[in-house]
Amino acid sequence: MDAFADVEDTGLDDDGREAFLSDVIDGLSAATKTLPCKWLYDVRGSALFEEITHLDEYYPTRTELALLTDIADDLGAALPAGAWVVEFGSGSSRKSDLFLNALTDLRGYVPIDVAGDYLEAAAGALAERLPHLKVIPVVGDFTAELPLPAALDDAPTVGFFPGSTIGNFEPAQAAGFLARARRTLGDGAFMVVGVDLKKDLDVLLPAYDDAKGVTADFNLNLLDRINRELGGGFDRARFAHRVRYDDGEGRVEMHLESTVDQTVHIDGHAFNFRAGETIHTENSYKYAIEDFHRVAGGAGWRAQQHWTDADGLFSIHLLAAA
Ligand code: AVJ
Repeated sequence: MDAFADVEDTGLDDDGREAFLSDVIDGLSAATKTLPCKWLYDVRGSALFEEITHLDEYYPTRTELALLTDIADDLGAALPAGAWVVEFGSGSSRKSDLFLNALTDLRGYVPIDVAGDYLEAAAGALAERLPHLKVIPVVGDFTAELPLPAALDDAPTVGFFPGSTIGNFEPAQAAGFLARARRTLGDGAFMVVGVDLKKDLDVLLPAYDDAKGVTADFNLNLLDRINRELGGGFDRARFAHRVRYDDGEGRVEMHLESTVDQTVHIDGHAFNFRAGETIHTENSYKYAIEDFHRVAGGAGWRAQQHWTDADGLFSIHLLAAA
């Protein structure tokens, strides 16, 4: 045993730990227990999410990739030549490459992400694949108001927000994000957004509750993470992964359900759970085409065009600054 045996590399600095702890204390003290979904994505959670994207039941990733491939020519024709692409939360490089290759005379690429290390690595790999592309990574929270690098001058800008990440926001937050993006990208901007569609529950629910239990593991990892990083006392065997669809809200909800009456201690705080009580850990909003048009329209965007796959699972929207 060395002196640092009990020091975990949590990936969080002290401020990050404080923010995590305060969200956990607030969320578990509320009458309806809830935790912000951003904490699902530590190194282990991100690896599990990547695994989810390859599951048979999880249709969004492969459907969006195929759709992007199919509409590449349409996108190239509809979007201005010589533009800068600004990606909000630089995610899967497969999607970025497809999108960047669809554009004519691409000027450059600005991936925005909070994870600085990840961003540098992804930008480096991209520069190798597309050596002539100018890449200016921006480390920051894309949900906040962020100025774009001065190098962009007055070339046209195209925002890219794939993956139905927008589904993690409440519709009002989604509108707030789109309005900020509209201001950031400027007049004459375009935005391309991947949005998951409403559909039958026999397709929707298994996507969030797969047979192999990868999504359950992804959800339960949040309890392990609280134990690892905050010295929490969760026993993951006393919680179960639960998924439900709220028809009124139009969203899939992930919960962690306590299977017994129990008290869990975290950093000197005690939290009581009744058997059957849940922690609400994530929302994934689903939008009919006109639902999303309403949200985008309220945020200063005109819906210019949209595409869906033949099975009506997923949509890609092209928005123009109104
Ligand atoms: C990353 C928000 C798009 O909502 O489908 C997948 C997250 N959670 N399975 C989604 C998620 C459980 C995912 N997004």
